Amino acid sequence: MPLPLSSAVSLPRKTLDSSLSLALSLFAGGGEMALSVAKCPSSSAAARLAPDHSPLRWSTLLRPFPRTVLARSVAVPSSKNWNLGVACKQEVGTVAASSPKEAPSKNVEIGGLLGLSSEEYRDVIGPNSSEREPTVSITVVGASGDLAKKKIFPALFALYYEDCLPKHFTIFGYARSKMTDAELRTMVSKTLTCRIDKRENCNEKMEQFLQRCFYHSGQYESEENFADLDKELKEHEGGRLSNRLFYLSIPPNIFIDVVKSASKSASSKNGWTRVIVEKPFGRDSESSAALTRGLKQYLDEDQIFRIDHYLGKELVENLSILRFSNLVFEPLWSRQYIRNVQLIFSEDFGTEGRGGYFDNYGIIRDIMQNHLLQILALFAMETPVSLDAEDIRNEKVKVLRSMKPLQLENVAIGQYRSHTKGGVAYPGYTDDKTVPKGSLTPTFAAAALFIDNARWDGVPFLMKAGKALETRRTEIRVQFRHVPGNLYKRSFGTDLDRATNELVIRVQPDEAIYLKINNKIPGLGMRLDRSNLNLLYASRYSKEIPDAYERLLLDAIEGERRLFIRSDELDAAWELFTPLLKELEEKKIAPELYPYGSCGPAGAHYLAANYNVRWGDTASDA
Ligand code: NDP
Ligand code: BG6
Repeated sequence: MPLPLSSAVSLPRKTLDSSLSLALSLFAGGGEMALSVAKCPSSSAAARLAPDHSPLRWSTLLRPFPRTVLARSVAVPSSKNWNLGVACKQEVGTVAASSPKEAPSKNVEIGGLLGLSSEEYRDVIGPNSSEREPTVSITVVGASGDLAKKKIFPALFALYYEDCLPKHFTIFGYARSKMTDAELRTMVSKTLTCRIDKRENCNEKMEQFLQRCFYHSGQYESEENFADLDKELKEHEGGRLSNRLFYLSIPPNIFIDVVKSASKSASSKNGWTRVIVEKPFGRDSESSAALTRGLKQYLDEDQIFRIDHYLGKELVENLSILRFSNLVFEPLWSRQYIRNVQLIFSEDFGTEGRGGYFDNYGIIRDIMQNHLLQILALFAMETPVSLDAEDIRNEKVKVLRSMKPLQLENVAIGQYRSHTKGGVAYPGYTDDKTVPKGSLTPTFAAAALFIDNARWDGVPFLMKAGKALETRRTEIRVQFRHVPGNLYKRSFGTDLDRATNELVIRVQPDEAIYLKINNKIPGLGMRLDRSNLNLLYASRYSKEIPDAYERLLLDAIEGERRLFIRSDELDAAWELFTPLLKELEEKKIAPELYPYGSCGPAGAHYLAANYNVRWGDTASDA
């Protein structure tokens, strides 16, 4: 049973030290395991809690460690309760069980399995354990598309480079386009980069990786074509226990077709089958519910991994650590000390190339209802009982369900128009040929949201998201209240807001966490200044930050669901936004135009001003 975080952080030093030495001795005893964990220290959820520069994981220290199993390098099941990070090593895999659906946790009692003698264990897994070694086959459906090329294959390569993929794995691209294996490899190789800090043997590793990539052309609704894929997968799996991951990198209107065909004809017969589903998960409550119903005709909820890649970003993941493992923050995390919270997403480019998709969704569905709302839920949740996926997702869903429905008067929308700057003409949104003329789709939105619970009552959570703005950035800004009876208020002049503390979590680019504080300017006088206590990741850590897709793919392979969206979270998120989206569309509300490359429409400032808030990113010392 994992300890709740509160117990974890308050462990007396002595206990921690003895746990550490126990774990170290176990690592020494179970050499392969120790080695593998160290190879890919960033692997699982638990690993990410490891102290800096250490391959050890908190959860490793705090959870029971079945020494006999490690010493024999027996396959350890990956389950929410046994987060030992086995995926980032090649020697140890996941015990797949007899059911095609999420078997390990359901069909093989983990505790029971680990409690078996070696003879009993062999009886369970069969006499020839090498044949029963697991394989993972990853099928990227829609492999010819933009996301597959840009994100999925590079992330898989990065995992391979870091030795985070299991020993036996195969990658298949699947799409309608005709391509040979060699053509797929050429296509994929164009987007693979040796962006891993070590860069040693990168070309060699790339070549080895490409040799494990194959292509199968087929129709999305064809069970026959998926049956052919199944045959090919089996050849590569070589009779081993087969685990299969399908990544749906395709337009949402064909999700169900693919899931139906894949589950009927190409799901694993003796291991797990999981499906990663890309957003958009519908475009309102009804279509999202219909999609969920459709998927659940063929899959269990625990086979569905709804991806929101923002949850895989390093600083979003760090949010809970910042709050729950630092005594200085958690006591301040409420209406008592926080004046407002701002979630800001801005891109310095338009919808170039994706106008067709975008026009059907708009910025509220594209960014706010998922990426920003997920960050908000993580930010505002109560302390979860443990770090287990379900405990965290339970807390997030409570936040979403406590939110007040969004009202039209709490929203400002905009759309970028063409603009010429420095002799360069930037196109407006409706200049895109894939966008219908006269489209009212917002490319910018700002909204004030409220959480109706004891912790956050009355605190505005302001969101702002836009394309074709002045800068590219995503950040969380926490503005604290004024200091009551501030002794130094005369030194601040009339604008007390300028003197309040602000905590900024810059998700991207230039990842950083900084806290704005007041201090005295050195000298004989009494002049105050605002300074930043600054944790700039690039200065603090030499290691390159992994792409969000790497983390999420690895988690899906490990069966770690913490960073994926559960269906009730999705329902709650849509419930919050659907009435507003309908009203905007029914009333045909025209967005305020803003020039390409500007700070966005003035409406966003008026909206914030209604709540006595100033957007932190527009301040001179942002
Ligand atoms: P694409 O439009 O590039 O589509 C992927 C592949 O699906 C295409 O190569 C094509 O393959 C097939 N396809 C496209 N349109 C259709 C259609 N109407 N009917 C049947 N098959 C079709 O999508 P992306 O790669 O950009 O994105 C994939 C998914 O990920 C989408 O759901 C998207 O919304 C989501 N997403 C994308 C992001 C991005 O940056 N691109 C970011 C976040 C999410 P073929 O013709 O060979 O079968
Ligand atoms: C996607 C949106 O989900 O996120 C895109 O559909 C957006 O419109 C993208 O550009 C931003 O992701 P990132 O990781 O580049 O900030």
